[in-house]
Order: sequence, then C-alpha cells, then structure tokens
Amino acid sequence: MCGIIGYKGAKEASGILINGLKILEYRGYDSSGISVIKGNKFLRVRSKGKLENLVKKIEDQDLRSNIGIGHTRWATHGVVSESNAHPHQVGNVSIVHNGIVENYIQLKEQIENENITLSSETDSELIAALIYINMAKGLLNAVLEVIPKLQGAYSVVAMCEDEPDKLVGFKNGPPLVVGKGNCETIIASDINPIVPYTKNILYLEDNEVIEIVGNQYKLLDKNGTEKSPKFIKVSWDVREEGKKGFSHYMLKEIYDQPDSIRQAISPFVNIKNKTINLPNLGFGQSFIDFVNKNNNSQDRTHDVLKKIEHIFIVSCGTSYHAGLIGKYLIESWSNVKVEVDMSSEFRYRNPLIPKKSLFISISQSGETADSIEALRLAKSVGVETLSINNTPGSTLDRESNGHIYMSAGPEIGVASTKAFTCSLVGLASLAFCISKLKSKNIIEGSKIFESFIALPTQIETVLGLDKYIQNIASEFKDFKFLFIGRGISYPIALEGALKLKELAYIHAEGYAAGEMKHGPIALIDKKMVIVAIAPSDHVYEKTINNLEEAKARGANIISITDSDSEHIKKLSMHHIVIPKNILSDILSVIPLQLLAFHMANALGFDADKPRNLAKSVTVE
Ligand code: G6P
Repeated sequence: MCGIIGYKGAKEASGILINGLKILEYRGYDSSGISVIKGNKFLRVRSKGKLENLVKKIEDQDLRSNIGIGHTRWATHGVVSESNAHPHQVGNVSIVHNGIVENYIQLKEQIENENITLSSETDSELIAALIYINMAKGLLNAVLEVIPKLQGAYSVVAMCEDEPDKLVGFKNGPPLVVGKGNCETIIASDINPIVPYTKNILYLEDNEVIEIVGNQYKLLDKNGTEKSPKFIKVSWDVREEGKKGFSHYMLKEIYDQPDSIRQAISPFVNIKNKTINLPNLGFGQSFIDFVNKNNNSQDRTHDVLKKIEHIFIVSCGTSYHAGLIGKYLIESWSNVKVEVDMSSEFRYRNPLIPKKSLFISISQSGETADSIEALRLAKSVGVETLSINNTPGSTLDRESNGHIYMSAGPEIGVASTKAFTCSLVGLASLAFCISKLKSKNIIEGSKIFESFIALPTQIETVLGLDKYIQNIASEFKDFKFLFIGRGISYPIALEGALKLKELAYIHAEGYAAGEMKHGPIALIDKKMVIVAIAPSDHVYEKTINNLEEAKARGANIISITDSDSEHIKKLSMHHIVIPKNILSDILSVIPLQLLAFHMANALGFDADKPRNLAKSVTVE
C-alpha cells in the first residue's frame, strides 16, 4: 500500500515521477503528490483523489528539476485530504513513506516537545520531523539516527534542500528497489516504474540504507557499516498494454485470459510428448543463480517434491481462494495432505509444521505483508518454500526456495482476475507432477494435457456469454446474493462473492452448498439471488437438491454448469453453460468476474479502483 518513487539523474524528474506513479497507482489512490528541488527550494504539489487530479494540477507549473520524490497514498493514519498527502515536508527535509509507524503516539509527543508544528495527521510526517531534528549531521547521518527510533513497517525516500544532489532510501518491511541507469537512478516500491529505464536492479534488504548521489551509491546497514551494493540484471519487462480499447483494465484483463492461460501453461506442457512436466523451479539454487540460469548449482526440484509429506498453502484474498482449490487438486490427485490458511491467521496461530513440509505462498503482487511474514515463519522452522507469484523479483519470489510464475502479465485492475486463473494452472501442474513423482497415478496425464490445451478456446467460448451476463447484472442491482458450490466449486463461490463485494459494494456471501440449510437459508426471500456453481462432478446431484430447497423458498437462481440436464435449467432463472474440462473451476469463475464487473458498472462504480482497496497490501 502506497507507492513511492524517487529520481535523480540527467532528465527532467517530474515527468519520470508522474509516469512512475501511474504504474504504482495500483498501490493506493487516496491522494498523490510530488516534490522536486529547484534552486535549493522544494516545489511540492499534492492532490486529493486519483492521480489524474495531480496531473491536472501540475500542468501549468514549472517543476523543471532533475531530482524529486513522489507518492501515491492508501490512507492509514489520517483522513484522505491534501494535507495528509505525501511528500511530507518539515523544514528542509521532505520524505515519502510506505508503511505504518507503530510508535507514532510516543514519537509525536517527543516531536511536539521540540516545538515543531506538524501539519498533518499522519504517522509519516513524524519521520520527516525526526530527520529534520537530526539534520546537523547531514541527511545520511540523520537517517541513521532516526532508524532505531522507528517501530513498525516502512520504506522511505528522503531528500533535503541543503543537499540537492542526494536521495536517501531506507526500509524495514515494505519493498524498496533501486535501478541504476545511465547517469540516472530511480528508486521505487517495485521494479515496474524502473525497468523502462534500466534493468540493473538492487533490492534493498530490511534495515539497509542507501545514499544516492548521481550514479554513486553508498549502501549501509542500520549501524552505518558500509556494504557493497549487489546490482543484478533482470530480464523482465513490463508489458504495458494500456486498456486495448476496453473501457476498464479489469474488463481487458478478463478478456486477456485465453492468452494469459496460454502463457501460464507453456512452461509445463510438452506439446510433442503430450505431457505435463515441471520445469526447474529453482530449489537448491540461489535466487540470483536461478534468475541468471546459472547451472553451477544443482536443480533439486524433483528431489524436494518427491520427499514432501505435508503441504501448507498460505495467502490472502483471491490468492487464498486459489489455495483452497489447490488443496482439492493436490489432495485428490497426489494424496498429500494440504492445509490452507489465510496469511494473517497463519502467522499468529502457532502452526504445527512437520519437517517434511512444503510451504506454498500464492500472491499476485509478491509483496503482501502478511504473506511475507507467514513465509518467514515457515522458513524459520526450516521447511522448503515455494512461491506462486505474478511479479518476478518481488519479496516473496526472492525469499522463497522455489518459484512458479503465474505469467499472467501485468494486472492493473485492483480486483484480481487473470492472476487467479493463471495461479490455478500452476497449482494444477504442481498437483499433477507431485502425483507423478510419488507414483500415485490417480489422474491420467493425457487427460490433464488435453484439458490444459483446451482451456484458451473454452475461455473464449465463456467470454462469448458476456452480453447475456451483462443483462443479468442489470436485472439484479438491488438484490442480496448468496454464492454456493460444493467441493472444488466452494472456493469459486467464495471468489464470486468476494468479487461482488469488492466491486459493486453489495453484501454477498460465499457458502458451501451443503451448509446453506444451517443458516443462510433463513435469509432466502424473493429479493435473494442464489448463484450456484454446479459442474457435473460427484456432488452435482447434492447441489441440485440444495437448489430445489432454495427454489422452494422463492430464491432467484443463476446456475453455472457444464451439465446439459433439463433439471438444472428448469430450476434456474438464468442458466450459464460452460464447456466441460477437468479444470472447470477456471471456466466457472469467468462468468462471476463478468457479473461483478457489470454490476459495478451498472451501479456507476469504477471497477478498476474500488473504494478503500489497494492491489498490493504492504501493511498487516
Ligand atoms: C488485495 C487485492 C486482492 C488480492 C489480495 C492478495 O486485497 O485487492 O485482489 O487478492 O490483496 O494479494 P496478492 O498480491 O498477495 O495476491
């Protein structure tokens, strides 16, 4: 949450900062701001609301400078207002901050005792004030003085009017990445605003401080001991595709799914042999060796997976729902026990993690704070770790032993769509390959292969129902929603309800269909829509029984099924038929993504930027 960026170089800073903030806006859009140094004076412009407001505001201003910092905010402390927007400025110091200062009440008292008047309600301004108080020793030393005083999570970029050629960055928790270009440096919350300019990347570790003066870098630990900065060359590009003619990123991303699934399956399928295989996932290699494809360390992927006896899948939001599906796939295809947790619960529940466990974290961003801490907890007991993520080089990716990439391409819409379906491809491949390694042979490889290959075209078929789903959305704008499913379709029901809440601000619940009679059935009346995910699997008939019970009480039923039975059609007010596939969950979620999108649109809400949400949640 919150995107931060700093630029020092030969070019005009404000343009680069604004372009970077456009890329980082997914991290929060409550307010934004930039500050540059011109003639030893700060020029700061801030604006409440989306970045477009800031862009309008700076149109007529002369901000020419080659150093500056920028910020896009997701509010934690202090209301959404211009005075709470970053950069914060105290005296000759200006900073941008991502994170939460937990001891801010105590720090605030100390700062007020120094007769410094604060002009915002934020915890972030305190960091600027503390640096300012210590500025007698210069910016870098002031930062080193301040770090021990801060409790909580922070990544910060600071600059000072009296040292106008310098940026200082430091972090504990949220990410901070430095890009070394030709006569320029960009420092930011992730690599995306950096890679258009340079692929030479330094990922700062917690408690490191970097002083950037032109192309000179001084990297220190929090005690001031110098370290040598190890830049790595990344090969990743940001596929900035714009909206490709769609009204919203989210709609484009829903429609991207045939292509993104093609990308996601490609590392796993061998077209010639018609098999599904695991590529080298990097177990036993350092992250740098893995990224640079150095073969001087052994690939231990098969050894690791063969030995595991227990799997934990830990993640948040939509990625958590993918984890629940992963449990069904792994347990039913390879007989390995799987526990699925939300990261925020796992990290505080004293989980009992047996020795031969594999810890899997699923994350689109790779930067979700709770998921990072859950991973660190698993690492502290010495088990193998694997990340399934959509952001190569993210913290979860770097800190995991093994790496599966979703390959969904950039996902800009805050609500996750294509990253979800692509993560299911990674989980299904893993589930099948574990079953092969353990010689379980519960599922035929050729069936999975055929299912994978069929998916892109089948998704196109489902997308062909868009207009029909749009009409359904306009019919039910003021209804209550209950999403139900059994088995592997239960997490799809949870995902359908989450999407509707996130985007259309309609209270919706996802429920195991068999549990409906234990409570939610009391809510059913004529204003209730039941969305049933009912593939023709071993629990299909049971779900039909639940639909009969709902219909008898007046519910409006929308069914999503691959069954051609007349029975479910008759029960349903709207009947959405998807193609048959072993991975039918990848197909059945698409009508739910479209439904939520069109409901939001019909109600006049911006589906790309739902209120109060952020795409990357870097606070716990
Ligand atoms: C936020 C986003 C969700 C996402 C969740 C987990 O809440 O709004 O769309 O599912 O974070 O994010 P991750 O990047 O870890 O998958």
